[in-house]
Parts: sequence; structure tokens; C-alpha cells
Amino acid sequence: MEVKQWHRKSLLGLEELSVAEIECILRQAAQFKEDVPNPERKTDHLSGKRIVNLFLEPSTRTRIAFEIAAKSLSADVISITGKSSSLTKGETLRDTAMNVQALGADAIVVRHSSAGSSLFLSRTIDVPIINAGDGAHEHPSQALLDMFTLQENLGSLRGKKITILGDILFSRVARSNLWGLTKMGAEVTLAGPSTLVPKQFEEMGARVSHDLRESLADADAVMLLRIQHERQNSTHFPSLAEYTTMFGLNMERSKWLKPDAIILHPGPINRGVEIDSELADSSRAVILDQVKNGIAVRMAILYLCANAVTCSHND
Ligand code: CP
Repeated sequence: MEVKQWHRKSLLGLEELSVAEIECILRQAAQFKEDVPNPERKTDHLSGKRIVNLFLEPSTRTRIAFEIAAKSLSADVISITGKSSSLTKGETLRDTAMNVQALGADAIVVRHSSAGSSLFLSRTIDVPIINAGDGAHEHPSQALLDMFTLQENLGSLRGKKITILGDILFSRVARSNLWGLTKMGAEVTLAGPSTLVPKQFEEMGARVSHDLRESLADADAVMLLRIQHERQNSTHFPSLAEYTTMFGLNMERSKWLKPDAIILHPGPINRGVEIDSELADSSRAVILDQVKNGIAVRMAILYLCANAVTCSHND
């Protein structure tokens, strides 16, 4: 009987997590999921704690889910955006975080445009740092909720074929999922135009495909990604219309998938570009399930990190 434990203060990315740690978060999330829809069953695990959401890039899903998750654990939550902070007056990220810590934060959830910003803060201040997306580097809570949703639909991820399709080069979601899914035994194909899916990703354990039909044929799940215009400073394909012609998914092309293959998307969706509306709203799509699962997964992350608890599960 093995006891698996969580010893980390911060969650910076999935590259550094072991399989046991990933499983620990996913199991804790499953325990919390039952309680999420019912406010009367709010837990007091983080009662008296202050969680600060420091979101210096736009967010809908991640910020709201972390806020709901913290409140479901009875924490006090303060949310700051870039425009509402003194970063606009020239204060550094380090000074901002040190001041947030001095004001009594017990954990800081950070989204920032720079890769490595969460790691930097975790080495600068004492309170737990939860990475809510750092540039094109990692988005661990997103990948964890994706894996949670995949497990709900497919069972064990071992041997499952997952295709991630779209702008891989600039995607922190793709990188975190690639680390997490391969550790959990899934076979990951990264698909899209060669300019956005370079062969170098094979060194991270993925199969690379530039052929849409071939990349869909044996997939158990397809994760679509939008084009990350905000991170691209040059064009990587002639036009959005041409991207859609070559790599957009629609009802007709979904026939290339296995009948029971599911479709994921981390959001925000660009309808009519990487996926057409009918398919995004079809029964194949588990996109809103991903969003809902994001609450339980983030409850688990906050519970384990901010509470400095040991997660032990007997197998
Ligand atoms: N998936 C995701 O990170 O969405 P938001 O940018 O809305 O948080």
C-alpha cells in the first residue's frame, strides 16, 4: 500500500510534478466536485486565509474559477487586475507581490505575460504562488482540469490518444498538457501548420502532424486551441481564413473522428476559426464541463498549496 504525498507550497507547472502529485490533485478534486454545486456544503478548509488573485493578463474562466474555488473553501478573496494595480505607475512585479504578502496574503494566484514570472515570485516571496498562466510557458491548473475532464470521459489516460490541434508554439495550455498527459501515459499528437507546430516538440515526447485528417483519425479526444494573436509578433500563416480552410474543425470534418471521440477547448473559443459553432455546441464537445471542473480542480490546488496540507491517499 503506497502513500502518495503533496509536499509543495507552490504550483508552478506540470513539468516539475510527478505522476503521484498529479494523481493527488485529481483525486482531491474528485472529492471536492461533489460539494461544488451546493453552497450550503461550502467547506471551511481555508477559513481565515486570504487568497489574492493577481491577474496581469485578461481572464474570464481562470480568474472566476479560482475565486469561486477559494470562496467554496471559505477563504477571503481579493482580485487585482493589471489596470487596477500600481504596476501601471511603474511598480515592479516583485514589489507588488511583496506588498501583497505584507498585506497578509496566504497565497497569490498569478497570471502574467512573462514566462517564468511565477517561478521568479516563488523564489522572491514566502507565500505559495499558484501559476495561472505565465506567457507561453505553462498553465498548470488548465491542464489539470483538462486531464480531470478527460478521465471523466475516457477513464484512465494510459494509452489514450489525445490530439492537440492549433497554435501549439505560443500555447501554455499545450505545453502543460503535453507534460501532464505524457506523464499519465497518454499518447499526444500535436497538430497544425508547420510554422505553429515545429518538429522540435517531438523532443518533449509528442508526435507531430501537419495533416489534419491523419491527426484526427485515431484520436480518443481532440483539444482545440485558438490562435494566440497576443503572443505572435509576425504572421505564421497567410490569413485566418486560410488557417480555417486548412485546420479548422467543423461538422463535416468531425466525421474523420472516431464516433465516440470528444472535443475539448480551454477557451476562449474563436467561433468560425478553429471550430465552427455547430460543432462547439454539439454533444461531442465537453467544453463547458471543462469550465465547471475548473472549480473543483482549483479547490484542490488551493487546498493543497495554501493550507500546506499533506495529501495522502491509499491505493
Ligand atoms: N482557459 C483560460 O485560461 O481562459 P481564461 O483566459 O478566460 O482564463
